[in-house]
Amino acid sequence: MRDYYIAGNWKMHLTRREAADLAGALVKGLKGGKHRYLVAPGFTLLETVAPIVKGSGIRLGAQNAAAEEQGAHTGEVSVLQLKDLGVETVILGHSERRHTYLEDDGLINRKVKLALKHGFEVILCVGELLEERQAGRAETVCESQTVKGLEGVNAADLDRVVIAYEPVWAIGTGKTATPEDANAMHGWIRRVIGKLYGSAPAEGIIIQYGGSVKPENAAQLMAGEHIDGALVGGASLKAETFLPIARFG
Ligand code: 13P
Repeated sequence: MRDYYIAGNWKMHLTRREAADLAGALVKGLKGGKHRYLVAPGFTLLETVAPIVKGSGIRLGAQNAAAEEQGAHTGEVSVLQLKDLGVETVILGHSERRHTYLEDDGLINRKVKLALKHGFEVILCVGELLEERQAGRAETVCESQTVKGLEGVNAADLDRVVIAYEPVWAIGTGKTATPEDANAMHGWIRRVIGKLYGSAPAEGIIIQYGGSVKPENAAQLMAGEHIDGALVGGASLKAETFLPIARFG
């Protein structure tokens, strides 16, 4: 039986004061919660949020990391620096990284391998564009992003990999994939993992859904056999909207 895993991706929002208030409210509101939880604040907020969530059961995540350990990489943040702050999880391959900042599968794969090498949990995001879905290519796009993102990752490290299916057309748009479509894609991604690693890892891997998850649609999405949680953007920025999602079920 897979645990539900509800994650908040705060993206490029909040000041330190706002982040501290939100993290405090989440710690209070999720005390004794029955699912797994994570928050991923922006880099400048990590040091503020780390001591607040420490020991609460809410994991601390980062939204990206460099593909190199250290060196002349202006503007990048290293996994070593993230580890130093108490970060345990890194979100990689988010569609905003892929499409706005032009990260390709090869770069994302290098980041995945480096983060796993340093003991992090990785949330690898995959998802198709609207035109890819309309052209009937959604499955092949997600398969390719999954296969290329995990190239060279061995079965032992797959325990620390979570996949987030985030259809790009559903992110921040208020449009959600229907629970049926989302579940079908999650099932497809699980079969892709099965082809790569065998049936037990495929059964065990957590696949989150992301894209306009709200308190009103969370339980319906999570009811899908293959949907094991959510990667929440906009609704994760307020305790009033994140807590009902995180406490579903
Ligand atoms: P929204 O929940 O704002 O659509 O964002 C989803 C997302 O991109 C989470 O990573």
